[in-house]
Amino acid sequence: MNTSSMLTDEIHEYWTGVANTFQWNKKWDSLQSGNFTDVNVEWFKGARLNITENCLDRHLEKRRHKKALIFEPNNPNEEAKFFTYGELHLSVCRFANLLKKKGVKKGDIVCFYMGMTPELMMGILACARLGAVHTVVFGGFSPTSLRGRLEDSKAKVIVTHDGSFRGDKIVPLKSMVDEAIESLNSVETVLVVKRTLNEIFMKPGRDFYYEAAIKDCELHCPATVVEAEDPLFILYTSGSTGKPKGLVHTTAGYMVHVGNSFKDVFQIKENDVFWCTADIGWITGHSYLTYGPLLNGSTTVMFEGIPNHPTPSRFWEVVEKHKVSHLYTAPTAIRSLEKFGAAIPDSFSMKSLKVLGSVGEPINEEAWQWYHKHVGKEKCPIVDTWWQTETGGILISPIAGLTKLKPGHATLPLKGVVPVLVDEKGVELTTLVASGNLCIKYPWPSLARTIFGDHERFKQTYFSTYKGLYFTGDGARRDEDGYFRITGRVDDVINVSGHRIGTAEVEEAINEHPLITESAVVGFPHEIKGQGLYAFVTCNDESLTPEVLEKQIRSTVEKVIGPIAKPDVIQIVHSLPKTRSGKIMRRILRKIVENDLANIGDISTLLNPECVDDIIKGKKS
Ligand code: WT7
Repeated sequence: MNTSSMLTDEIHEYWTGVANTFQWNKKWDSLQSGNFTDVNVEWFKGARLNITENCLDRHLEKRRHKKALIFEPNNPNEEAKFFTYGELHLSVCRFANLLKKKGVKKGDIVCFYMGMTPELMMGILACARLGAVHTVVFGGFSPTSLRGRLEDSKAKVIVTHDGSFRGDKIVPLKSMVDEAIESLNSVETVLVVKRTLNEIFMKPGRDFYYEAAIKDCELHCPATVVEAEDPLFILYTSGSTGKPKGLVHTTAGYMVHVGNSFKDVFQIKENDVFWCTADIGWITGHSYLTYGPLLNGSTTVMFEGIPNHPTPSRFWEVVEKHKVSHLYTAPTAIRSLEKFGAAIPDSFSMKSLKVLGSVGEPINEEAWQWYHKHVGKEKCPIVDTWWQTETGGILISPIAGLTKLKPGHATLPLKGVVPVLVDEKGVELTTLVASGNLCIKYPWPSLARTIFGDHERFKQTYFSTYKGLYFTGDGARRDEDGYFRITGRVDDVINVSGHRIGTAEVEEAINEHPLITESAVVGFPHEIKGQGLYAFVTCNDESLTPEVLEKQIRSTVEKVIGPIAKPDVIQIVHSLPKTRSGKIMRRILRKIVENDLANIGDISTLLNPECVDDIIKGKKS
């Protein structure tokens, strides 16, 4: 037996043990099949299950009266809500019956465009109860973005709120839905959950209030048994090119890895209270706010608001109020609170805290130390968890309390996960200490299976750069302890406040402005957001002042994508550096915004080398 098949055997034995801890209607005929060359990975083929039976029904005997969900509203003066496993189970079943009444059945796609309230969690679980597929669109995306996702997924039902509370603002979600679906015939039903009570338009025959519609729905709903590889959800994410991709996650593999990694990484105990601050519109909110905790019978906290509203003490107040033992948040949130001073968290004992987590972007050493000292009071390990929308769950991370920590390092792969570093040519770097592009060598259960409606694009994006490997798009360094430190994206994806933004998408949005001829967007180091967006634009019309033009560009981007993609800096230039074949040299622009002029490289082969000096002179700091 050669080493690699030995390794595969060990990996398979490991996942078999893990999978046996879940509840199946029928176990698998084949544990894993397919590979990264043919891009046809499958896990637990032949098995049948329903994930909500694993999240809810399975716990009823022992945990019926245990808190499953704690809901903390945006406004601290509004009372928190609690749902036991028994109550959550009934709410999900009732919601499922409502969806059924609206014609939703196994395999149908339901879109959620909501604020963070319990109905969002109940709604996605209700889909899963029926074997329907949920696709959550983050409420911060614009109607145009929502429309794009609806055109792609062809969801027939949308669940939304009248509006959602975000700090002191109301986001008018229902009217945004109205705008998004105007003359879009695929949408048949819009269910509206009341939250902000702002005035909205209701279209007869299409729009229904959730509260009225659910009244006479039964509390009992048998779970629809699905196949292991049936889709559980679609989640859209940005890439380096083109439109957002709808990544498809399937049921059994996702469940097995997410449930298991939650328990392992965070070392969860029965009475722990887990607070993941992510929105359910992102993969983190799917995997570690919803499915991971519920699969383990844990108590999960859902927060409707934002970190610094009404004051920058809000996070620490929530930790104390709900006796949070595990806090899982993003470096950008930590940095944004850090700027209000350590005296704020220092005035809270937060003695319930046991473990801290970080996710979404590299955590800089300063933020790590601040989190460790002022939040964790130097007694809580920090798990710096590396993963992606595509990976479904955490792949590289310390195990809380067990792995020796190094600030800024995601440390070691989880069991069953085999990361490798490769050079530009795809040659695996076999020395212990190495820097290269991060790939994964063997399939793991919660890998996304495809891009909805475009398997070819899935193959191209992740499996064609390096043959036989899954390419993450990240660069990483491995040190003398074998620890991985993720250095950031090596493609045209920018990580702004832990959100993934494709430069191509922002450029396309900017170019929609009628006076803009061309644009190029690059990332630059940003104190709080990690990376900010720096846009270079050319404009042949001088009728607007630069200030007005910049304002209009920002609102164009907000309209096309959403506020999260608005450029931080816009520089109007005469021309963009191009190769003789006309390709924009973003590498040069990147060096300029990073103030790394020494490494700008040879510009003499450019079509228009003279523009580089002008751009440097006009750079905005
Ligand atoms: C990208 C994935 C993981 C769920 C939330 C983001 C970056 C993620 C880390 C980390 C350094 C990280 C990577 C990755 N990233 N976690 N611990 N350290 N970078 O999911 O939107 O799919 O983004 O986020 O660049 O590729 P996503």
